[in-house]
Amino acid sequence: MKRLIIANWKMNPQTLEEAKKLMVSWQHRLHFVADHVEVVICPPFVFLPSLHHHVAVIKLGAQNMSWIEEGALTGEVSAIQLKHWKVSYVILGHSERRLYLGETDSIVNEKVKLALYHKLTPILCLGGEQGADRDQMQSLVTKQFAACTKDVEDKNLHKIVYVYEPTWAISTMNKSRPETGEHAAEMVDHIYTLLEHRIGKAAKTAKVLYGGTVNKLNVHEYAKFPQIDGALVGAASLDSENFWQIIKEFHRESLHRS
Ligand code: PGA
Repeated sequence: MKRLIIANWKMNPQTLEEAKKLMVSWQHRLHFVADHVEVVICPPFVFLPSLHHHVAVIKLGAQNMSWIEEGALTGEVSAIQLKHWKVSYVILGHSERRLYLGETDSIVNEKVKLALYHKLTPILCLGGEQGADRDQMQSLVTKQFAACTKDVEDKNLHKIVYVYEPTWAISTMNKSRPETGEHAAEMVDHIYTLLEHRIGKAAKTAKVLYGGTVNKLNVHEYAKFPQIDGALVGAASLDSENFWQIIKEFHRESLHRS
């Protein structure tokens, strides 16, 4: 199974020129790693129409989408609109949306179901919640997993990309600290166990990633664990060389194992 590296640009960069420059900086190099690694870039919505021409080796993701199909919802973007711009992934349940915008498990659940219905791959973030601490992480992830995948048909559960991303590990959070590789791997195993309870052996066909301050200096900590299928990368994905080193390290580890 290919490793998956996802760039979450958040509200960056500020201009389309910078966004295009970043895309172009990876586009050609990615052919060298495409046999073992898939790369998804999630830019701000406004850049999607200009970046969809680059979709080939690089896949496009959105950072959010509406929980309803269409209608009067100021400021929201629909799944159908995303499909129009060749978006194939969508980040759902990110900590920042939970903490600053009050997004709840039940809203995330509606979005997950709608994304699957429209054949968008949900990138479901688990582990984000105000005040959550390390000791409670397993139970928090168990609760979020159950609530966010409620009424999702079992046959669709492996189509979701799960990301263990504890709030405190996000580089821009106050007093942030990256998770250790060991703990990230344990939590990834835990998510696989939750999946196994629902779909048995098919759990192995789902991807489970880690996110939180992954960069070129610490990527080895995560890439060396075979159960960590990739990374969700924020700040480091805005630096062309930093992100490329992350991709290369996951590629190197995959080659090593194949
Ligand atoms: P970070 O962000 O890599 O800057 O910690 C990750 C994320 O918020 O998805």
